[in-house]
Amino acid sequence: MINLSVNINKIATLRNARGGNLPDLLKTAVDCERFGAHGITVHPRPDERHVRYKDVYDLKPLITTEFNIEGYPSESFIKLVCNAKPTQVTLVPDPPDAITSNAGWDIIKNESFLKEVISEFKLHGIRVSVFIDTDLKNIRNASKTGTDRVELYTESYAKHYLYDKQKAIADFIEAAKRANEEGLGLNAGHDLNLENLNYFARKIPDLLEVSIGHALICDALYLGLENTIQMYLQQLKF
Ligand code: PXP
Repeated sequence: MINLSVNINKIATLRNARGGNLPDLLKTAVDCERFGAHGITVHPRPDERHVRYKDVYDLKPLITTEFNIEGYPSESFIKLVCNAKPTQVTLVPDPPDAITSNAGWDIIKNESFLKEVISEFKLHGIRVSVFIDTDLKNIRNASKTGTDRVELYTESYAKHYLYDKQKAIADFIEAAKRANEEGLGLNAGHDLNLENLNYFARKIPDLLEVSIGHALICDALYLGLENTIQMYLQQLKF
């Protein structure tokens, strides 16, 4: 089974636009679980423009599925994650002002830094995943950092899927095989949607989790959150 983790950052963005508590982020998280999501993902950025650090602490006792916190491992992020103790932390290399994650880690360049922060998370019993592109050398080196999983950055798959899906997925299949050989669990995310998800899930061996935010929340505007989550779950069945 492939887990669907719903990224609820967009709900926080909408809430923050008006300064009140609508939509209610905590209720949305609980409802996503009730509607069948296997996990909730948040990406608290240092400027707190969507999910805030306080949201993370408020969400923690409410989430009964897998809680995944993404972010750049700054000092304050490491502290937050070690205190909140989610199921999983996903480390991304993006600078604080990035609109959204826009690249995977250069593992070779950051190997000692990643090793150090990953060992800290592992001491707190938190599963670690690192966001990465399909470069095979990078994936081989990821296993040296002590990470449990890698999350494949699927933006290029989503972009090229529209023109040639076989070509779009080829590098991802090789990357998945290499991750498997290295004993790394495999997650994936970014720009996955109702159109491209099923093909990805069918073609990628041993995929454990997809984390989806933007398209899923956009679809929910038209289709409703419960229905949308069910439709995404359906794409993961084959
Ligand atoms: N994975 C990571 C590491 C991300 O930063 C994001 C976006 O916050 C996602 C997955 C989800 O991407 P999308 O919002 O395009 O579904």
